[in-house]
Formats: sequence, C-alpha cells, structure tokens
Amino acid sequence: MFTSDEWTLNKLSKEPKGKEAAKVVLMPSFWNSVVYILKVMAPLVKVLRLVDGEKKPAMGYIYEAMDKAKETIIMFFNSNESKYKDVFAIIDKRWNCQLHKPLHAAAHFLNPEFFYDNTDLEFDFEVTNGLFECI
Ligand SMILES: *[C@@H]1O[C@H](CO)[C@@H](O)[C@H](O)[C@H]1NC(C)=O
Repeated sequence: MFTSDEWTLNKLSKEPKGKEAAKVVLMPSFWNSVVYILKVMAPLVKVLRLVDGEKKPAMGYIYEAMDKAKETIIMFFNSNESKYKDVFAIIDKRWNCQLHKPLHAAAHFLNPEFFYDNTDLEFDFEVTNGLFECI
C-alpha cells in the first residue's frame, strides 16, 4: 500500500503522520516484530479457540493444548530460550493464576484419552501435584 501510486499521490502521504506511518511500515524491524508476534500468538490463539469453541468440552484438553502451544513456540524460535523467555514468563504468570493450572492438570490426568495413552502420566509431577491440589 505504501509503495503504490495511489498512496504517493494521496495528500495524506505528504502529511507528517502519513510520512511517519509509511516510514514505520517500510522498516525491516517492523516486519521482524510482526513475525515475532505471529510466532508467539498463533499457537496461543489456537488454545483460545479451543477454550472458546463449542465443538467439544475443552476442560480435559486445555492442559495438553497449553503444553503443545509452548512446545510450538519453542520450535518456532529454534529452542533459543533468550528469544521466548520473556514471553513465557507472561504466559506462565497467567497460566498459573488466571487459568487455574492445577484444575486443568487434574482434568488432564482424569481424561481417559491421555490417561491410557501415557503410562508415565502418574510420574509427571506437575500433573499429579495439580490433581492432589484439587482433591
Ligand atoms: C539466540 O538469540 C539471541 C537473541 O536474538 C542471539 O543473540 C543468539 O545468537 C541466539 N543464539 C543461538 C544459539 O542461535
């Protein structure tokens, strides 16, 4: 849009705010930030769709979905922790209080789909601690 004739011939392109907007959008760092945001947000939006969706009761699947989302984010950043640790601090803070992690850990443990699929589930202490906390 900002390189089109339509824009350059428009009077807004000569105004300070128009010039500033064009400058920002044409900076490589702007697009690097967009890519960064997409790498973080795409997996999280998937979890939100599950939580908000009507397809199936989400309770027993949220813990697994959050685990998968975090794994996907790690993969998107090639396991370079310095690139995602600040974001994970924010996610973990929300996940631990607002999203009631222990409740979802208990639901994960009690979901037959995961319980019978993973024989080591009883040794996943984050999951079993969540279960005990709820009990
Ligand atoms: C990890 O990311 C940081 C910050 O972007 C960068 O400086 C560093 O070289 C990366 N490390 C590896 C092993 O790629």
